[in-house]
Amino acid sequence: DDVPKKYTWGEHHFRSTLPKRDPYAHKGTHGKGLAIGGSVEMPGSIAMTAKAALRAGAGLLTVGTAKNVISSIAQTCIEATYLMVDDHNEHGGKAAAIPFERFDCIVMGMGMGRDKEAERLVMHVLNEANCPVIVDADGLFHVKADPSILSKRSDPIIVTPHPGEMAMLLEVPIAELLEKPFHYSRAFAAIHQVYVVLKGKHTIITVPDGKQAVNQTGNQGLAKGGSGDVLSGIILAMVMQHKNIFQALCNACFVHGAAADLLIRDNHSYYDLLATDVIEGIPAVYRTFL
Ligand code: APR
Ligand code: MG
Repeated sequence: DDVPKKYTWGEHHFRSTLPKRDPYAHKGTHGKGLAIGGSVEMPGSIAMTAKAALRAGAGLLTVGTAKNVISSIAQTCIEATYLMVDDHNEHGGKAAAIPFERFDCIVMGMGMGRDKEAERLVMHVLNEANCPVIVDADGLFHVKADPSILSKRSDPIIVTPHPGEMAMLLEVPIAELLEKPFHYSRAFAAIHQVYVVLKGKHTIITVPDGKQAVNQTGNQGLAKGGSGDVLSGIILAMVMQHKNIFQALCNACFVHGAAADLLIRDNHSYYDLLATDVIEGIPAVYRTFL
C-alpha cells in the first residue's frame, strides 16, 4: 500500500496531545455539543452517546431526539438538555428549528431510524450546520442516498462506519474492504474530502489528505451492541476539546479502547462487559494515563 504516512497511535501520543483543562475554564470552554439520534424503537443509543460525551469531557450537551423519547432518556442523562427534532410536535406544527449557531460540533445518526423523516433531518443538518459534523450508524445509511452532499460542505465531516457500513458506502463486498482497509479508507476520504474512522479490531483513522493512524487499544469485550454509540459520544467530546481533528479522533479511539482494556483487567470479563460499563470506564483512562 502506497500510504503517505501511517501512525501507530499509543499512550505517549495520547498523553502529549490531549489538551490540558484550563483552571479558569467555564463550561463553554469545552464545547457545546449536539447529539442527534434515538427513536421510539432505539432510545438507548443516543442516551449512551450523550453520557459518553459528558464523561469524556464535553462542557455542554444537548440531545436532539424524538419528542416521545425525551422523558425516558432524560432520566438516564440528567446533565444534558433536550431538543425535539421530529417533524411534528403535539400542536401539529413543525418542531422548533435547530439553532445551529449555538453548537460547536454535532454528532448524528445513532438509533435515529431509517425512515424518510430521518433522512430529511440528516440532509438538513449536513446542508445547514456550520460546525464539524460526525455521522454514524443510521446517519451513514441516509448519506448513502446522496453521498455528493458530503463534498458540498466546507466545514469538516467525520464518518465513523463499521466495515459493513463502509462497504455499503463504497459499494464493495465486505471481504474486499477487509482485504484493503487502508486503501479503501483513503479512497473514501479523498473522494468526499472527509475524515474516516473505520472501526474494527484495529480502528483506522484517515484524514482527507490521506494521513492515517491505527489505534492500539480495545478488545473483544467491545463486540456488543452500543459500543459504537459510546465511541460517537467520545469523538464528539474530543473534537470539541482539540484544535486538530486528526489528534481528536485518534485520542477518542484511544480512550474508548483503553476504557475497555482497563475494565477487562480490573473488573470485567469479555463476556459481561456492557457499553454502559465502557462509559463508566472513561474516568480510569484519564486517571491512569494522564
Ligand atoms: N476488538 C476491538 N474493538 C472492537 C471489537 C473487537 N473484537 N469489536 C468491536 N469493537 C469496537 C469497534 O472498534 C467499534 O469502536 O466496538 C465498536 C463497535 O461499533 P459498531 O460496530 O458501530 O457497533 P454498535 O454500537 O452496535 O452500533 C450500533 O450502529 O452500526 C450501527 O447497525 C449498528 O444500529 C447499530 C448501531
Ligand atoms: Mg454502530
